[in-house]
Amino acid sequence: MTALRAPQPGAEELAEPLRSRWSPSVYDDAHTLGRDEIDQLLHAAQWAPSAGNSQPWVFFVCARGTANHARLVAHLSRGNSGWVPRAAVVFITAAHVSTGADPDAPAYSDYALYDVGQAAAHLTLQARAMGLHSHQFAGFDHEALAEDLDLPATHVLLTGIAVGLQGDPGEVDERTAARDQRVRDRVGLDEVARVGTWAEPWQ
Ligand SMILES: Cc1cc2nc3c(=O)[nH]c(=O)nc-3n(C[C@H](O)[C@H](O)[C@H](O)COP(=O)(O)O)c2cc1C
Repeated sequence: MTALRAPQPGAEELAEPLRSRWSPSVYDDAHTLGRDEIDQLLHAAQWAPSAGNSQPWVFFVCARGTANHARLVAHLSRGNSGWVPRAAVVFITAAHVSTGADPDAPAYSDYALYDVGQAAAHLTLQARAMGLHSHQFAGFDHEALAEDLDLPATHVLLTGIAVGLQGDPGEVDERTAARDQRVRDRVGLDEVARVGTWAEPWQ
């Protein structure tokens, strides 16, 4: 039987829901999320910490079958147009980066992008805790979608977070199905951590 979980060597020691989080590309296109479940996911993001509690995030909810979903699908990159539309809901993240439309307006927060990323991470982990999977993506026409969503000049679109239940790999093209079998890997701690200064890697 086809494994529904990509191998993640080294992740075994992590706590749930971190341990079982990964980014499948095959979603069940009959599955939908109820309003309560969508609210729970948004609450997880809402309760993320942020610099000075500035909460510089906005989430455009794109549930399959809605006008927002159609707006998103029209602007997906070729690589993402095959798998993203099957997920029950996609959250498009936006960051409040500026205090005004004028290019010289002061920044809203120096940590807006950091904070939106963290809120996104909280949403993905809440999804896993609810038995759902998620897959973040940046491959879409940001400018065109921002226009279709009437995004103000004080904000920038960042990513999409597709959320849903895993689907049958037999229902998608071979390339998409194969993506879910790829071993997930990461660079070593000796590259990403330091025991002292820059030149002193974590051993
Ligand atoms: C900011 C960001 C942008 C991404 N863009 C895409 C994308 O456009 N298409 C895609 O299929 N996956 C995209 N991904 C998913 C990553 O490729 C994936 O998280 C990474 O390969 C690690 O796999 P894992 O999450 O299964 O461990 C993106 C992830 C992030 C955080």
